[in-house]
Amino acid sequence: MTTNSAVTHIECRACGESYELDLTTYPCQECGGILDPQYDLAAVNVDRAEVANRSGSMWRYRELLPIRDADAVVSLGEGNTPLVECPRVADRLGVNRLLVKDEGQNPTNTFKDRGQATAVSAAVEHGAETIALPSAGNAGQSASAYAARAGIDCHVFLNHQSGRVKRDLVRAHGGHLHLVDGKITDAASAFSNACEENDWYSVATFQTPFRHEGKKTMGYELFEALDWSTPDEIVYPTGGGVGLIGIWKAYHELLELGWLDGEIPRLTVAQSDGAAPIVEAINEQRAVHEPWESPDSIARGVEIPDPGASPWILEAVTGSDGTGVAVSDEAAIDAAIEMARADGVEMCVTSSIAMAGAVARADEGAYDGDETVVVINTGAGCKTAETLGERANP
Ligand SMILES: Cc1ncc(COP(=O)(O)O)c(C=O)c1O
Ligand SMILES: [Zn+2]
Repeated sequence: MTTNSAVTHIECRACGESYELDLTTYPCQECGGILDPQYDLAAVNVDRAEVANRSGSMWRYRELLPIRDADAVVSLGEGNTPLVECPRVADRLGVNRLLVKDEGQNPTNTFKDRGQATAVSAAVEHGAETIALPSAGNAGQSASAYAARAGIDCHVFLNHQSGRVKRDLVRAHGGHLHLVDGKITDAASAFSNACEENDWYSVATFQTPFRHEGKKTMGYELFEALDWSTPDEIVYPTGGGVGLIGIWKAYHELLELGWLDGEIPRLTVAQSDGAAPIVEAINEQRAVHEPWESPDSIARGVEIPDPGASPWILEAVTGSDGTGVAVSDEAAIDAAIEMARADGVEMCVTSSIAMAGAVARADEGAYDGDETVVVINTGAGCKTAETLGERANP
């Protein structure tokens, strides 16, 4: 059975090389650039009303996803997450509406499930038997869940600082856990070395062309949940920038499809002040980041010193009239606790970098009271409950 996907081919963002959809060796064989699936959007044979009438997961948008064989789709019901109104924190920020896209309500409690559902579906479509990736934790947990669902093997490379919940659940899903000393860059090197000796199918960030594709659905869902309109600003906790780029791509496709007739919302990159290469590049108006030597943040998901997709992230920020904001770990934990107490939403420490980013934007007078601001809660509070509990005053 077909998904009726309008995907046509894969293109390298750096050198423009075009590849067939049966490509399985990533990234670009010519130049190492990021691969991006392309669509014939004129061939999409559904409209937004028809999609809205469908029930279920993010696969309601299957015509705009890169999987062609419906039987290859590996799903645990990911996506279709709520957009939660947060009136008390909205008052605190001085905005008209504060909405939290609650990605914590995904099968393994983060937005990573959208990317892994898509990447693992592609692995199944390609006949892969073993997938592998380096991760800060959440993507590894997610990949091992989807691999289990698909009945294939999964190797996850984490650094020793990755959180307990993620390590335990990788093991629970039967994933092969490789725990590496050092930072995420060391886990990535160990992964690369192991790939040379093993015939693994990569589901690593921006090696696979499919993770940002899955995360695109956050943008579609936001548009749908706001009755086919856009918020003024979206604040996103940015590490590798996969989700931010996905959202940027989604709004472009919505424009090209003629489903959106208006402006793309401002995309605001929130980072930890201990690892802020993108915010630094924004402030210095550069088109590419400078790597950070010694990243240091309790928010492991955004403790990324050398995000390879920075030109694309920066294009999204500039093209949407967005901005960047760096916040301290303390501000992030305070923001998570304020949100948990005032409006009841649970955020993990990494996603609360975005919440603290919105607070910092409000404090610097960026909002005038009329705005609708969306914060992407990329992961649930249960992921880092211990840290939040330790810091919460009675
Ligand atoms: C909870 C959470 N939020 C945000 C991120 C950063 O994601 P991205 O690569 O899309 O910037 C991660 C990455 O590990 C994460 O786990
Ligand atoms: Zn290339």
